[in-house]
Amino acid sequence: MRTPFLAANWKMFKTVDETVTYLREFCALTAGVARAEIVVAPPFTALRAAADVTRGTNVGVAAQDCYWEREGAFTGEVSAAMIKDAGAGYVIIGHSERRRLFGDTDEWVKRKIGAVLASDLTPIVCVGETLEERDANQTLAVLDRQLDAALDGLTPAQVGSLVIAYEPVWAIGTGRNATPAQAGEAHAHIRARLRGAFGQEAAEACHVLYGGSVKPDNIKDLMALEDVDGALVGGASLTVPSFFAIVTGAGRSV
Ligand code: PGA
Repeated sequence: MRTPFLAANWKMFKTVDETVTYLREFCALTAGVARAEIVVAPPFTALRAAADVTRGTNVGVAAQDCYWEREGAFTGEVSAAMIKDAGAGYVIIGHSERRRLFGDTDEWVKRKIGAVLASDLTPIVCVGETLEERDANQTLAVLDRQLDAALDGLTPAQVGSLVIAYEPVWAIGTGRNATPAQAGEAHAHIRARLRGAFGQEAAEACHVLYGGSVKPDNIKDLMALEDVDGALVGGASLTVPSFFAIVTGAGRSV
């Protein structure tokens, strides 16, 4: 049975001090939450501080991206090994903002996932269609292309350990949600694709999150969908009461 998984993607928000203040308050609240996997992704600069504050709590730490080489002359990049060294346990890969604004390709996403797994970290792999792709009835084909490229060469055990986030690009930061029917269709499709390529066990073990304008008032409806195992939350994760309300709202067995 998959535990509900709630991840906060802070994007380019919060200093070290703001991270520490947030996490002290947040971890005190989540101490009583038994059945949820909770992860917070601050900017690189606050990873170490976040890892220190959350040590011994039930809140994990994620980076928002990484480069696939271990070290070298790659100005501005951060490797998975460095992220692990900073104390994080997860890395978000292939977020649509990376793909759209910084040129991350399907091939890069695949390499980054390989690097994350090689460092014994858990990738949170983002996939999702743009509005033009949805309007052109390309949603499922886009998901197939992104998933096939991202997961190429992985073992069923690796796929079972992954977190995948379905994030329709048109729902990110827009206040516009996928309808339950749209999210349900995409999630069921992703699960079926995983089953076909990696087998039943891997497909059942893999967490598939929904992302895009998740809020305290829509998390329950999303979690009611069979193949939605949690959420990747941007804007509504930036304050403690809001993200904690999402964590408690998601509380159910999946
Ligand atoms: P949002 O962002 O919750 O602000 O829409 C989600 C994301 O980009 O992961």
